[in-house]
This record gives sequence, C-alpha cells and structure tokens, in this order.
Amino acid sequence: MKDGKKKGGHHPSAPRRNSRKRGIAAGKPGEFPRPSGERAAIVLAAGQGKRMKSKRAKVLHPLAGVPMLFYVLDLVKRLEIQRTFVIIGHRAEQVSEAVSSWGVTSLLQDPPLGTGHAVLQAKKALEDFSGSVLILSGDTPLLRPETVQRLWEVHQKERATMTLLTTRLANPHGYGRILRKKNGAISRIVEEKDATPAERSIQEINTGVYIIEAPFLFDGLGEVQPNNQQKEYYLTDLIGIAARRGERLAGAAADPDEVIGVNSRADLATAEGTLRKRIAARWMAEGVTILDPSHVRIDASVEIGRDVVIHPGVALEGKTKIGEDCVLHACRIENSRLGEHVVVKDYSVIEESEIESGASIGPFAHLRPGTVLRKGAKVGNFVEIKKSELGEGSKANHLSYIGDAVIGKEVNIGAGTITCNYDGEKKYQTIIEDEVFIGSDTQLVAPVRVGAGALIAAGSTITRDVPPEALAISRIRQENKEGWVRRRRKKRAE
Ligand code: UD1
Ligand code: CA
Repeated sequence: MKDGKKKGGHHPSAPRRNSRKRGIAAGKPGEFPRPSGERAAIVLAAGQGKRMKSKRAKVLHPLAGVPMLFYVLDLVKRLEIQRTFVIIGHRAEQVSEAVSSWGVTSLLQDPPLGTGHAVLQAKKALEDFSGSVLILSGDTPLLRPETVQRLWEVHQKERATMTLLTTRLANPHGYGRILRKKNGAISRIVEEKDATPAERSIQEINTGVYIIEAPFLFDGLGEVQPNNQQKEYYLTDLIGIAARRGERLAGAAADPDEVIGVNSRADLATAEGTLRKRIAARWMAEGVTILDPSHVRIDASVEIGRDVVIHPGVALEGKTKIGEDCVLHACRIENSRLGEHVVVKDYSVIEESEIESGASIGPFAHLRPGTVLRKGAKVGNFVEIKKSELGEGSKANHLSYIGDAVIGKEVNIGAGTITCNYDGEKKYQTIIEDEVFIGSDTQLVAPVRVGAGALIAAGSTITRDVPPEALAISRIRQENKEGWVRRRRKKRAE
C-alpha cells in the first residue's frame, strides 16, 4: 500500500519489522502480544462524499444543528481513549478547522484512496503503540457510547485481534455484507459493488466500527490491494486477511437505528429523524411536555427547563436555553435565552435574543438579534424588534418596528409606532425613559430621547427630544367643516 515500506503481498510468517524494533517477538499468526490496554481511536473523515453532491465536506453537514462529525468526536470523548486521530482529505482545511477545538490530531490523507489507506495514515503516529485501535467513520453519527463500550467488552472477553460491529438491515443496500463460514465464524466482508447477487441478499452488514489490535492492524493493511470495482484500498479486506491468518475475530450486534452511514441527503434526513426522536425522548424524560414529538425540532445543543410545554411546530435551534414553565406554541427560536414562565404564541421568530421571566411574545412577532425583553414585557402581533431593550413591564402590542432603542420600565408603545433609526447612511438610537406613553402611529425620528413619564399624542412625528412628563404633539390641528358632506350631496344632485 501507499506507505511504501510494505507494499502488498506481505507473508504472514515474514518477520515484522516494527514489532522487532519494539522488542516484541515476531510471533506466528494469532500470537501478537497482548497489549498494554492502551486505547487509540481513528476517525475516518477524508472521503469525498460524492453522493451528497455538496460543496461542504460530508462530515460537516449538520444533524440537529451540529456537524455530523462532532457526534463521533463526542462519543470518543466519552470513552477512555488516550489518543484520537481524525483522517482528513476532502476539504481538509474545512474539516481540520472544525475539529481544532476537540483536542484531536488531524492527519492528512491526500489523495483519499479508500478506508484502508485512510487508516494507514495513522501508522507512523502509532509506531510505538501496541494497544487497541477503535476505528469509527465520521459519517456514522448515531452510534451510542454504550454500544462501543459493549464492543470493547466483547473484544476483551474474546481476546480478539479484531472485533467488528455488525447489524441486520431489512434493506442492506450500499453496505458491506458479512460473509460467515458454515460454523458461523466471520470469514470476509464483501462490498455492495463487488458482491454477487447471492451475497447481496445477505442482510447482515458491516457498520464500519471496529476494534483492532494495533500490531495486526498496520501489518495486515500491508496486504491490502485495490483489487475491486472502486480501485480502492478497502479496510474491510482486513477481515478476510485476519481470518486467513487465523487471528481471533469477534463480532457484536448493534441496533440498526444507530449505525446508519450517511452517504446521501436521503440518509441525512433519515439520521436527522432518528436523532430528533432521541432528543425529544431525552427532554421528555427530563420533565418537559412535548405534545407531538414528531412535529418539533430541537437541536442537540439546546437546553430546556422542567415543566416547559412545547406545542407542535416548535423549532429550537443553536445554543437556545429555555427556562422552567415556559409555554411555546409554533415558533422558531434560535440562539436565544428565555427565562421562566415566558409564553411564546404562534408564528413568532426569535433570534439571538434574551427574554426575561414572565415575558410574552406573539403571535406573529419577530425578535431579531440583540433584542432584550426585561421581566414581564409584552410584544404582540406584527411587532419587529431589533437590537433594542424593552424594559420591565413595558408593552408593544401591535404593529410596530423598534430598532436601536432603549426603552425603560412600564412604557406603552402604541400600535403602529416606528423608530426611524436609519437615514440611509447611519443608524441612530431612540431612548424612551420609564413610564412613557407613546400614542398610536407615532414616528420617532432618531436620534431622539423621550423623558420619563412623557406622553406622545397619537399620530405624532417626533424629531426633537421630549422633556420628562411633557405632552408632545406634532400634527396639524383638526378642522371640522360642519355640513360639508350634506352640501356636496345636494350640489351633485342638481
Ligand atoms: C464503508 C465500508 C462498508 C460499511 C460502511 C458502513 C469500506 C470499504 N466499506 O462503506 O463495508 O458497510 O462503510 O457505513 O470500508 N474515508 C476516508 N478516506 C477514504 C475513503 C473514505 O477517510 O479514502 C472515510 C469517509 O469520509 C467516511 C468513511 O471513511 O467517513 C467511510 O467511507 P465511505 O466511502 O462512506 O464508505 P462506504 O461506502 O459507506
Ligand atoms: Ca459511508
């Protein structure tokens, strides 16, 4: 294979160079040294993901709002693993940047020549490692730590050289099939593209999750050749090699739901569905009421307090945090924090906002980034707020635009109020102090300040500061022309 030193055809009984260097007797097949118990993980994430037809690296496609690869890295983090390598290749920069905060080592596979070739990229880094290597794919995000833990147990109990996670699928299309001997022992894996029709009818598949003793892993990979439909170095060929060499092979079965390999957008949607159900189930177990779990969308990164009630059509995204006893009707909340007892009525959108306890929002409200609603504030239908604070107990109940404003306590913003915050070049601030009453259909031309307790008459255009407790009125005085309509009617009739 590509690493040069052990190109193909390595005979099992030939001395193993590396083993010798480490002072480990180059044993006969099946006699690799029992390891120190050290554990490493290799996560494969270099593939192109052709079937996604995407500009984005496949493993960075989000599932429940989080890149698919992060689920795999999180799983590794939960297990006792000393060293983790991520094999990157396709869109390597994107992937290496994404994993930079995970404390893993990225290794470049350039060009990606198959899963076996991918694993080989870690050979040098694991030169003096004689423990067990867990191999995972960046495109298998639903795997649970408990399942991998079980795989370790089987691996240890069976004193296996290689243990693989398999499952049975009603529709095994696209996966490598597990071939077994008459006595039930695993003999080989055949990929979909290389399988005969009879082999394709096998429902037991390879999940792409393995634990392999390091000395055998890197030695065996030396034998792998790209003699297949895809002209790739298949990691799966290692199973046949192990079987031929008489190495101990073990298997453990997984729940079909958790081993889906995401290769296409359709797989992505399937995985998303499974994950969403899992997330909803978790929050229900934590004391959240979800009226219809199949019609809510809760990102993996969201936190929800107890006794929150979630109606159908709710989407909670990003780093959103919902306090206890909130009631959420159909709405979308993104990267926002809600205190306790907040009510969000239907068809509201809340983005990057902070909502304090007891506030009420909607229906049909739009809170844009930088909105702060203090305790008990109320925002009603067709109100848009951006980068503004609405003070404790203040209300904007109907049809308003509030941008770049600081609004004090107990302020009433009448229907149709608009902060004119933009002159075509710059944005300006509106300040409304405590207990101000803004009459309906008022325009506040910023920059402008309305002093505490002031009252603005309906229909005013406010261009100058209003002193505290003043009445501001800026509209043409009304004139009533008595009998005018009667006179017009008479005129027309003549
Ligand atoms: C692979 C297995 C198949 C198994 C399935 C489970 C092989 C040959 N086949 O098939 O038996 O049933 O996973 O989901 O291993 N990758 C690299 N470098 C490469 C090629 C791939 O890092 O050169 C990575 C990919 O990014 C991906 C993983 O390896 O995360 C699996 O590759 P993929 O092409 O998806 O393999 P499958 O065809 O799904
Ligand atoms: Ca795959």
